[in-house]
Amino acid sequence: MHVLITGGGGFLGVKLARLLAAQGTIRGKAITKLTQADLFAPEPVKAPFPTEGIALDIADRAAVDAAFAAKPDCVFHLAAVVSGQAEAEFDIGMRVNLHGTLNLLEAARHAGNRPIFVFTSSIAVYGGEIPEMIEDWTILNPQTSYGAQKAAGELMVTDYSRKGFIDGRGLRLPTVTVRPGKPNAAASSFMSSIFREPLQGEEANCPVSEDYPIWNSAPRNVVANIAYAAEIPEEDWGQNRCLAIPGQTNTVREMVDAMTRVAGSNAAGRITWKPDPFVQKICAGWRAHINPAKALRLGFRQDSTFEDNIRWFLEDDIRK
Ligand SMILES: NC(=O)c1ccc[n+]([C@@H]2O[C@H](COP(=O)([O-])OP(=O)(O)OC[C@H]3O[C@@H](n4cnc5c(N)ncnc54)[C@H](O)[C@@H]3O)[C@@H](O)[C@H]2O)c1
Repeated sequence: MHVLITGGGGFLGVKLARLLAAQGTIRGKAITKLTQADLFAPEPVKAPFPTEGIALDIADRAAVDAAFAAKPDCVFHLAAVVSGQAEAEFDIGMRVNLHGTLNLLEAARHAGNRPIFVFTSSIAVYGGEIPEMIEDWTILNPQTSYGAQKAAGELMVTDYSRKGFIDGRGLRLPTVTVRPGKPNAAASSFMSSIFREPLQGEEANCPVSEDYPIWNSAPRNVVANIAYAAEIPEEDWGQNRCLAIPGQTNTVREMVDAMTRVAGSNAAGRITWKPDPFVQKICAGWRAHINPAKALRLGFRQDSTFEDNIRWFLEDDIRK
């Protein structure tokens, strides 16, 4: 199996590549090659099979077609510009999140080998006038350009699957926290930085109130679920190709308290609480109560406590 990861140099892309390197198989078939594609060629992970990092702008149709000349058997499409940037820079969001996704779907279709195609969508597809509790059948009603671009991608993943061009699966990811590194342009960036920075001895600001609820999942669980999405037999997915994967709902206060229980009280004292209307407006449109019934039936992994998110950050990702 030749595996291609777009966004393969990003936060989740690198972790997914490492997981696949350790796993070695997809659907019981040996992985024979792993390609991590990103805007700049990523450092490929070490694996018991050939790996490579390539530079690929998914908005460049000719370059995408060239990458698909190798006919990858399994594509994990993670490349995207994140919510805050897609909102602030509409053209870039459209170019990458919408047209880039279409380029990949078209290239996969023309490759003719009907690859497994795992697409990372987001809970940003939900919002507006819908019930507070989200079920598998709740309509997609995005309230941001990012969410609209992801929702459009989901529809196309489903239609390309129905047409038999790909074996597609779309996953609505919860907010993934704790994310390592630096703050990014995602409006949800604070949902990691208020834990990451204090745990690394620095200050961070929380722009929302402490009773704000967040549908979240730990990187270990999200990456395991992205890899698992490729494993599930097609007949088990049914017609609805895209679904919300599991997560957990915690208020900011509950999350901060969990950090205190794991790491002591010093960290929480490094959080400042200055409201930010831009972030608050985007976050107000997001939903935090989701019943991922189908994903649980299919065997996706569920988070159990936010203390795990903190513990795993300390084990896997804290800046040493
Ligand atoms: N992290 C989260 O909380 C979260 C939540 C919901 C959905 N998602 C989705 O999961 C996926 C991965 O997210 P992440 O957190 O790893 O983000 P990330 O920003 O760390 O990784 C995305 C990667 O895509 C690359 N990229 C951007 N434009 C590109 C282009 N034109 N061509 C090729 N590559 C390009 C970036 O360079 C980056 O390395 C994204 O699709 C994101 O929308 C993430």
